[in-house]
Amino acid sequence: MHRTHDPEFWSGRRVLVTGHTGFKGSWLTCWLRDLGAEVYGVSLPPEAGETPLWDRLALEGVHDVRDDVAGTGWLTGAAAFEPEVVLHLAAQSLVSEGYRDPAGTFGTNVMGTVRVLELVESLPGVRAALVVTTDKVYDVRQPTPFVEDDFLGGKDPYSASKAAAELVTQSWPGLSDRVVTARAGNVIGGGDFALNRIVPDIVRAWSTGQTLVLRRPLAVRPWQHVIEPLLGYLLYTEDVARGRDVPRSLNFGPDPAQAVPVQALVEHAATQWGGLRGADTPVRWEVEPDPVMEETHDLTLAAGQAQRVLTWGNVWGWQDAIDRSLEWYVRAVDGEDPHSLVLAQIRAYTSAVDAPAP
Ligand SMILES: NC(=O)c1ccc[n+]([C@@H]2O[C@H](COP(=O)([O-])OP(=O)(O)OC[C@H]3O[C@@H](n4cnc5c(N)ncnc54)[C@H](O)[C@@H]3O)[C@@H](O)[C@H]2O)c1
Repeated sequence: MHRTHDPEFWSGRRVLVTGHTGFKGSWLTCWLRDLGAEVYGVSLPPEAGETPLWDRLALEGVHDVRDDVAGTGWLTGAAAFEPEVVLHLAAQSLVSEGYRDPAGTFGTNVMGTVRVLELVESLPGVRAALVVTTDKVYDVRQPTPFVEDDFLGGKDPYSASKAAAELVTQSWPGLSDRVVTARAGNVIGGGDFALNRIVPDIVRAWSTGQTLVLRRPLAVRPWQHVIEPLLGYLLYTEDVARGRDVPRSLNFGPDPAQAVPVQALVEHAATQWGGLRGADTPVRWEVEPDPVMEETHDLTLAAGQAQRVLTWGNVWGWQDAIDRSLEWYVRAVDGEDPHSLVLAQIRAYTSAVDAPAP
């Protein structure tokens, strides 16, 4: 059996979300607002020319603050909000951007975490804080799937900055009963418009009749829909807030047997795209290795602890994850309201979680 979140816990709860306008943050904030939580969000203003998912959702009733999380300007307003739960998602989240701007990546990902922890330390009313990192925090010289006690590492600036965020959190004095870290693998889902992420790349290429360029077709990734780790984040913070004895870090990833190479995902997506857009719609891809960017090859996580401790587990397999993602984009392009699409998929997911195990 899998467990779903407790709506009563979230109803009326004051929740600080950093990175609320990002891909995961938008889905999460939409979910929290639907549950009746009060949300105070801190993020950067959008880049010129972008219309991120956040803007398309047009959520009402969110305290929408734009500031650099690595600075101190936002702390007074966030403290005045008196959050009971803190979900720290704000990050420079792209491996490629980490190579382009290592200093900015370390600044945001390390000092941003420092600021969040300073805030939590100053607010005894925060009952639970979750720092979101990534599956890339592990030293890749170890065998996979990675378990939570494995050594941290990071050969590129993004991975190293996230491993550093883990160390900052683990070493911060006096917060061990309130602050935890969550390490999730790549997520996919509707509304992600970032560059160099596979699903947005697929949608951009195929909806304009162009050839999709694959950097590492053989790289194995533990694909999961964005809703899956988000539910894990909700369950984890609920349990920390209730004072349950839970580990300080948890992996959130699919069964390693579900991890498939990029190539397999693209082949499945091609079939799905034909089903959505007509079998004669051309879909093409080619391989063009990136000479600069080195990404770790075989990232899989052991999520047995999250399963045992939180009764959490993947409900949608990787095929469902890609099907739901492509369906979201196609229906949004066809004029459906992005907010309704997000909520409909969350409801479909949570009712599947409630179902008895097959
Ligand atoms: N998307 C994935 O596949 C994935 C995988 C593993 C881990 N993660 C982690 O999950 C979290 C959310 O990822 P995402 O995909 O939503 O990222 P995203 O890039 O879509 O969004 C990042 C968010 O952080 C905010 N932000 C960035 N720099 C900031 C700064 N200096 N000050 C304030 N806000 C800032 C942005 O405004 C945005 O709201 C990140 O911590 C990321 O590292 C994501």
